[in-house]
Amino acid sequence: MTPFSRITGTGSFLPPRRVTNNDLARELAARGVETSDQWIIERTGIRARHFAEPDVTSSDLGLEAARHALEAAGRSAADVDLIIVATSTPDMVFPSSAAILQNKLGISGCPAFDVQAVCSGFVYALTVADAMIKTGSAKCALVVGAEVFSRILDFNDRTTCVLFGDGAGAVVLEASAEPGILSSDLHADGKHVGILCVPGHVSGGQVLGTPLLHMDGQAVFKLAVRVLEEAARACLQKAGKVDTDIDWLIPHQANIRIMQGTAKKLKVPLEKLVVTVNEHGNTSAASIPLALDEAVRGGKVKKGDTLMLEGVGGGFTWGAVLLNM
Ligand code: ACO
Repeated sequence: MTPFSRITGTGSFLPPRRVTNNDLARELAARGVETSDQWIIERTGIRARHFAEPDVTSSDLGLEAARHALEAAGRSAADVDLIIVATSTPDMVFPSSAAILQNKLGISGCPAFDVQAVCSGFVYALTVADAMIKTGSAKCALVVGAEVFSRILDFNDRTTCVLFGDGAGAVVLEASAEPGILSSDLHADGKHVGILCVPGHVSGGQVLGTPLLHMDGQAVFKLAVRVLEEAARACLQKAGKVDTDIDWLIPHQANIRIMQGTAKKLKVPLEKLVVTVNEHGNTSAASIPLALDEAVRGGKVKKGDTLMLEGVGGGFTWGAVLLNM
């Protein structure tokens, strides 16, 4: 057994259609829904998001991100012995988007499954992959966050539809003699189901309930800042590290105000905060690996840097992973 797991490659993919706040405001105005570039930027930091075409699925976006991550790791799909996809917008009710992605990668046999923890999905998936590598169940895992949130947005609800976008990010996590993932800390509290949910399900050939995103934004905001700080501090403590050891803070990209509030509480200077929410919007489980890949490819994150990844989302779920690149 190898004592550690380490990220050896990152990748991401955004669907080509970029929708600015002004584009969206025009589309919404045609429905009688009023919003503005200024309101969206001031309250969220979002300037644009990407939307997938109707026939594009989470596994399609995940496939492109996975290919880039494998290439960066110098691996081929045949090396992969575990696939975990974090998504709340799977291709089908079943099978998992991970099984569909496995087939699209042209491989078979290795375990493949989805993790459903909404916007915390990627830190959940990374933690599971780390544990499977440390116990010898896998050596080369593909961990993907992929979403088509545009499918579950209510474009008559301006308080939510301006916040989200589509995309995918991926990492290759491999068994390593050197420490990569240092610690993780995951939580859920199901009593908050109602503040952020898509309250619909399939029954008898029909959708029952409302298959569109519902959110109490202010309740989410308050909870998010508190739990993100707690999870990050727990990770630091488990790894015997302190806040000044963090080279880069990569939180779930939901809202610039939540992200800056968390950085402030953790005493991480804003120059060390990786921000992509301005261009991606909130891509749920894809947001952290998307931001990580942009930071790696943009030359910010370098080998040996210490990263704090943090997710929070529906459930309520939250968690953090501290790692060395
Ligand atoms: N355009 C214009 N006006 C709007 C819009 C919009 N898109 N949305 C709401 N408003 C109006 C409201 O109607 C309200 O008007 P009123 O005062 O006349 O009633 C006013 O703006 C203020 O609305 P609030 O809801 O109080 O605005 P707030 O400052 O709380 O910002 C926001 C709303 C951005 C949703 C904020 O609460 C937030 O960011 N919450 C966290 C949401 C989040 O990050 N969720 C995702 C995390 S988990 C996950 O990723 C799944």
